[in-house]
Amino acid sequence: MTTSDPEIVPSLTLSNGVAIPQVGYGVFQVPAEDAHEYVSTAFSAGYRHIDTAAAYGNEAGVGRAIAESGLRRDEIFVTTKLWNSDQGFEKTLAAFEMSRAKLGLEVVDLYLIHFPAPARGLFQQSWTALEALYAEGSIRAIGVSNFKGPYLGRLLETADIIPMVHQIEVHPSYQQQDLSSRSRELGMVVEAYSPLGRGVDLNAPAITRAASNHGVSAAQVILRWHIQQGRVVIPKSVSPSRIRQNADIAGFALDDHELASLSGLESGHMTGEDIEAFN
Ligand code: A2P
Repeated sequence: MTTSDPEIVPSLTLSNGVAIPQVGYGVFQVPAEDAHEYVSTAFSAGYRHIDTAAAYGNEAGVGRAIAESGLRRDEIFVTTKLWNSDQGFEKTLAAFEMSRAKLGLEVVDLYLIHFPAPARGLFQQSWTALEALYAEGSIRAIGVSNFKGPYLGRLLETADIIPMVHQIEVHPSYQQQDLSSRSRELGMVVEAYSPLGRGVDLNAPAITRAASNHGVSAAQVILRWHIQQGRVVIPKSVSPSRIRQNADIAGFALDDHELASLSGLESGHMTGEDIEAFN
């Protein structure tokens, strides 16, 4: 099997039956002028799932790479996200149109509310807009990101549709087990962002030991740990060889002892944003 074989990346099925490739290429912090090149590299490496956001400022570069990929539209899964300042019913509809135009897509596969932005008090209205876009067929699946603490519960108080995806920070040193379990119990697929802990988890002995056992890299071990626990991962890299390596994780499996040793690395070390302060 080669890394250009699309079958190399398994898929999960969302609650509405839509398939989502379990490994996506995340373009957080990828400069707008480089997005086209890196996303093209990711397609060549076998990725069929790209995760961007309005806030990343690189949707147009992602769109150009999609247009030039030569891949059929139904072979590619594209996620983008609603930014905080665009929350509210009408503003969400307008922001979605902008994202869709930049991506050059008629239909977006997955649209997420990026943060609850609780001080704005608009996430329930924004969700209603996502539901409307889903109902009209402009989005194949809808979800949320970073809905920690009370916010998921508050969203569900007024939601007609339970989010199909919850994208949250998860890596060995910060696993958010309670939030993950609750999201799964509600039928949501958990997507891990910063799945490598932005690189900080790579040197843990439990990980380097498993890597040497299997003749793979520490990053591949961590990504495999996620995959075997049923999460989607969106590792970010700007290095072509690491982009390829991160998609090439099908040829080995961690045993129960190795999985437990990675799960034992929880230390509460968050690398992302404090959502209460992020409005
Ligand atoms: P680089 O872009 O130079 O490859 P996360 O996805 O958890 O946010 O982690 C991203 C960080 O991890 C980036 O600094 C990225 O650096 C690094 N990284 C990504 N893939 C690998 C890999 N296979 N091996 C080592 N570091 C990696």
